[in-house]
Amino acid sequence: MIPKEIIEEIRYRSDIEDVIGTYVTLKRAGSNRNGLCPFHSEKTPSFTVFPTTKSFYCFGCGAGGDVITFIQKIENLDYVAAVELLATRAGITIPNDVTPDTAKNVSRRRVYEMNLEAAKFFRSALFDPTVGAEAMQYLTEHRRMGSAVIKRFGLGYAPNDFGLLTRHMRQKGFGEDELVEAFLSGRSRKSGKLYDLFRNRIMFPVIDTAGNIVAFGGRVMDDSKPKYLNSADTPGFKKSRILFGLNYAKDHCAQELILCEGYMDTIAMHAAGFENAVATLGTAITSEHARLLSRYTKRVVINYDSDEAGQKAAEKAMQLLSEVGLTVRVLKLSGAKDADEFIRRYGADRFRSVMEASRTAFDFRLENILSRYDIMTAEGKIRAAREITSLIAGTGSGVERELYLRAASERLGISGESLGNDVARVRTRMRREARQKESREVRMSARSFGDRVNPDAAKSPAAAAAEEVILGLLLLYPEHRRACVDGRVELGEADFFTDFGKRSFHAVMEMERSADGFSFSALGEHFTPDEMGRLVRLQQDRGSLQNNDLSVLTAAAASLIAEREKREAKEAGDWQSEIARRRTELQKKKEQTKI
Ligand code: CTP
Ligand code: MN
Repeated sequence: MIPKEIIEEIRYRSDIEDVIGTYVTLKRAGSNRNGLCPFHSEKTPSFTVFPTTKSFYCFGCGAGGDVITFIQKIENLDYVAAVELLATRAGITIPNDVTPDTAKNVSRRRVYEMNLEAAKFFRSALFDPTVGAEAMQYLTEHRRMGSAVIKRFGLGYAPNDFGLLTRHMRQKGFGEDELVEAFLSGRSRKSGKLYDLFRNRIMFPVIDTAGNIVAFGGRVMDDSKPKYLNSADTPGFKKSRILFGLNYAKDHCAQELILCEGYMDTIAMHAAGFENAVATLGTAITSEHARLLSRYTKRVVINYDSDEAGQKAAEKAMQLLSEVGLTVRVLKLSGAKDADEFIRRYGADRFRSVMEASRTAFDFRLENILSRYDIMTAEGKIRAAREITSLIAGTGSGVERELYLRAASERLGISGESLGNDVARVRTRMRREARQKESREVRMSARSFGDRVNPDAAKSPAAAAAEEVILGLLLLYPEHRRACVDGRVELGEADFFTDFGKRSFHAVMEMERSADGFSFSALGEHFTPDEMGRLVRLQQDRGSLQNNDLSVLTAAAASLIAEREKREAKEAGDWQSEIARRRTELQKKKEQTKI
């Protein structure tokens, strides 16, 4: 548990507009700001930030909350981790003893400490000739790495031993459970003893943009399997959110960034002077990665292996990257399996000229389509034209479409005009479909959202509506909360029908009665981000209405109580008729036995 005043301090110093603004492009909309929702896909902005109430709400998907909820959702963290992240950002130190540090709940910071210590250990093993000679030789001779690059990337060597690292870490004061949690040690099923997970491998530390070592990749030095062992997701690390090399590339990639397939390629690129290279960590690129990249750069050059698998992956990456508005080019290397090998064989200058000649995404796809059809036949030409038409139709800018049409008509030998007509037709259809899809998605998510947060509401709409009014008022106005506490408005938890309503009322009242008083943010400790979203909506809905004085609260409370009484009467009625039914049954039996 983090003390309330520290949470409030963090919330106060984390300006919601600033924080959200680093993830979402916000535009002024009256006294509020809005933008495209990062939690569902949309083309018209329904995501709104309210600086006055320090909250956000998406009218499309129902996501909402305060700055902490936002971080929880976008960084996929629990409440405490989100608070910690904001604290770091705001330069606030949370007293150490209040963050959970128990075995199954190792904090991110603790994992980073362990990783840093482990990285130092791996590094001195690599530079120790009696332990790391072979590994060093592999890097410098086989992979032609200079010692500057080895040091810059903090490379190391995990000795071929089952216990050296674990022993070292235990001596440094790290607990057994912590080491297991951080994916540095495993625990033997038989003996229960710890052993080193990384053995006889070249170690690549993965460093986030804040400079923390969040994970390791370990590569074998021969052809044995698995080629890489990677840290599993730990409290400090989620693969889909991290890019290898971004800690260095972030300062060199405002214009262009090179996306590679792996550790080795990225390092080779940096060594050759391309400091804007990054890689995903042994996973295909996700839309989350794409969004992350779009915060750092405008243009991405995809630099994947030249084999078929690599080029297929490039196709997928291209799609995801263009979806977030990045300009994409694809590199095609010939004469080497990947960039690392290419540079070793032909040098950095040659690589640079290949980079310059890298094909635009359109060329890449155009060639791809043309290679699949025989355009000397009418049939082949028609089919190719059809695919190319939808490819061009999917391009957002009119100028680009114009250029592509010209290129395509030349390659196909079809007039630009008739291709252009087809493109226009396809675009009309695509727009219609996109609109339908968007409204369908919003409807679906709104519906399932409602069910998830307050499933009881459907069972008594009248009670649920009264509860919404009450909670909205209580969340907004201190004087209404006080009226409930001191009994001017008689309302108890038992009057509430839905479980969500009961819990919300309970939490608000308890906080109001406590010494610290009410704080919207502290609700995040007891409610999920989705529930927080609902609470913000109740607040917003209420706040937009004219009359919010005590009479509204009293009326809503009265109607909630009336609903409860109706329910009880019905239950009592049911009970009485049940007694009556049994009585007649008994009577019948008696009569039967008489006969
Ligand atoms: N990878 C992985 N697990 C594997 C194989 C690959 O996690 N078993 C990931 C690593 O992040 C690796 C990337 O996929 O860096 C690319 O794989 P590959 O090209 O096979 O490895 P390289 O690091 O490029 O090594 P090399 O060039 O020496 O083959
Ligand atoms: Mn490779």
